[in-house]
Amino acid sequence: MKIDDIKKVSVIGAGLMGRQIALNNAIYGYNTWLNDSVSDMLPAVQKWADDYLAGRVAKAKLTQEEADAAAARFHIEANLETAVRGSQLVIEAIIEKEDEKRTLFKKINNIVSPDAIIATNSSFMPSSKFIDCVNNPSRLANLHYFNPALAMKLIEVVTGAHTSEETAETLMEFARRTGKRPARVRKEIDGFIVNRVSTAVTLTALDLVSRGIASPEDIDIALENGLNYPMGPFRLMDLTGIDLSYLVLSERVANGEVIPGFELVEQKYKEGKFGRKTGCGWYSYDK
Ligand SMILES: NC(=O)c1ccc[n+]([C@@H]2O[C@H](COP(=O)([O-])OP(=O)(O)OC[C@H]3O[C@@H](n4cnc5c(N)ncnc54)[C@H](O)[C@@H]3O)[C@@H](O)[C@H]2O)c1
Repeated sequence: MKIDDIKKVSVIGAGLMGRQIALNNAIYGYNTWLNDSVSDMLPAVQKWADDYLAGRVAKAKLTQEEADAAAARFHIEANLETAVRGSQLVIEAIIEKEDEKRTLFKKINNIVSPDAIIATNSSFMPSSKFIDCVNNPSRLANLHYFNPALAMKLIEVVTGAHTSEETAETLMEFARRTGKRPARVRKEIDGFIVNRVSTAVTLTALDLVSRGIASPEDIDIALENGLNYPMGPFRLMDLTGIDLSYLVLSERVANGEVIPGFELVEQKYKEGKFGRKTGCGWYSYDK
């Protein structure tokens, strides 16, 4: 599929990520159909989109005409078949459950043409997991947005050996045409670029704390002021949730990996100190 052939885009999953991805596409000129299996939530998604566009007009980021045009291109559709039929690019952004995603990929495969691109926004599942769900795997890739997808510029375009160069180039150009800065990831590695590098920084920081070399606060101060990180790894963990860090790291430990400093995360987890949401993590917060 070539970039200029993309006229209709479908986004499946209208949660945190999908609704923002869909509205971003509409703002940048693509007719976009957004679907979710929980149809009860769709009126709230429409209201969210209307409020967002009105807010952009109020802040003079969009003219009223631009907002109206974006609204006209943004279609919420409870029926999957209607949402997807005739689409040249389908972006999957449903919950992180492999079985659900596999079932969905098979359904999409039966609706769209064999050269329509089917991309997944998954942070953890590479598109190669779905090779056997479609009849032409060369149109599969990860199109990995960052939260909040309307604001964050980066998209990682993650390709595997099954992905054609045409698919990769089309997705890179689609990202550019929708106001983003794409980065190509040429092999399906865990964490792609950003989450992998960010995890490496976090693990190094935990190691330094566990060896008594520096406190969490001093490491945050060092990275925020020496490397201009907007937020050091401990402040970031407090924001995203130490419970999440614990779940991700404990899986790696269960797989036999030795992670120096994991015990510090485990201790916070057992004490229920998950970060901002519990009022205490590496730092204390007034609730
Ligand atoms: N949350 C993030 O920061 C983030 C960042 C990048 C990528 N991602 C990826 O995006 C995907 C979605 O994450 P999210 O945070 O938006 O999740 P979410 O839970 O907010 O939204 C998922 C939506 O999918 C819907 N859904 C579930 N099964 C469906 C189906 N079969 N058909 C249609 N809709 C279905 C749910 O009703 C829900 O509205 C995941 O694969 C995740 O890895 C998330």
